Amino acid sequence: MGEVILVSGGAGYIGSHTVLALQEAGHEVLVLDDFSEGHLAALRGTPYVRGSLLDRQFLKDVFARHQVAGIVHFAARCYVGESVERPGRYYENNVVGTLNLLDAMVAAGTKRLVFSSTCATYGEPAQIPITEDAPQLPVNPYGNTKLVCELMQRDFATAHKMGVVALRYFNAAGADPQGRLGEDHRPETHLIPLVLAAAAGRLPQIKVFGDDYPTPDGTCIRDYVHVTDLAQAHVLALQSLLDGAIGFRAFNLGNANGTSVREVIAAAERVTGKKVPHIVTARRAGDPPVLVGTPARIQQELGWNPQHSDIDTIVATAWQWHSQHPEGYGDS
Ligand code: UFG
Repeated sequence: MGEVILVSGGAGYIGSHTVLALQEAGHEVLVLDDFSEGHLAALRGTPYVRGSLLDRQFLKDVFARHQVAGIVHFAARCYVGESVERPGRYYENNVVGTLNLLDAMVAAGTKRLVFSSTCATYGEPAQIPITEDAPQLPVNPYGNTKLVCELMQRDFATAHKMGVVALRYFNAAGADPQGRLGEDHRPETHLIPLVLAAAAGRLPQIKVFGDDYPTPDGTCIRDYVHVTDLAQAHVLALQSLLDGAIGFRAFNLGNANGTSVREVIAAAERVTGKKVPHIVTARRAGDPPVLVGTPARIQQELGWNPQHSDIDTIVATAWQWHSQHPEGYGDS
């Protein structure tokens, strides 16, 4: 094998869609995954190494055996609620895992990193839409760990002349428009897959977490971004690094367009032609009323041009995948 792009967490939801986009852009990909969350079937035959970022010897071996031109780093724990209950798990997996990866990169002389960051690093924003210059004041351990990762990467980029791009996702959703990949989290906590499970009758109903927010219909507003558009942003970010960009840069991946929980339910009913049974319950702790981000910077600097991110397309692609894969990847 010649030079590869190493994708940590490439068997996960956003990771697997990005692997596909990288391959379609002509890159050789090697996935690194411990399969604690990811799915072998999501790799679709892509070469992989099985192991953990917490295992420094394993990382050393990977870099010794493969010529790594750049890294796209997804591997992380990503549940806000769990992070509140088990912060140690998040600091270990997300912060120590990323530190080990950065150290291994330095030792191997690998200089290019695209990092999976999050709008959760902004916490409760003072202004909407959120720009990259907004203060980063996370309100949960998950957001804290991703912010610490960004800070480490900024320092490593300066000290070791690396090129690092942190992509701060808003709400990733949808599935590969060609139906090859989809979303399969265990347990599933995200709104759109749950809404579609209720539409399909696999769930009796969904809970709307609060309808007394200061928003037009009282439910929380989020900026849903199609996972294929997210994946494309990673390809562009990596290419900028391969073209020689150095230093640390961060970009929002949102659409500057908010959709409320009720609007998501309405979109699902429109797309599926089925009712989505739902009840209103108490607010979920830690949910900001509105999270919407402007992608102006990545559009200007990297030419990102989302193609699938209107809510009906997002829901329709997710519905197609869930309808064809009611058991997800079927590997529990
Ligand atoms: N929601 C419900 N009912 C549900 C699930 C969600 O009403 O059963 C609501 C939530 O309260 C929220 C919206 O739907 O207002 C979206 O919730 P998700 O759980 O789908 O997504 P989040 O906005 O909570 O989380 C996403 C990412 C996280 C990231 C976070 C940043 O999935 O990884 O954005 O705030 F940290």
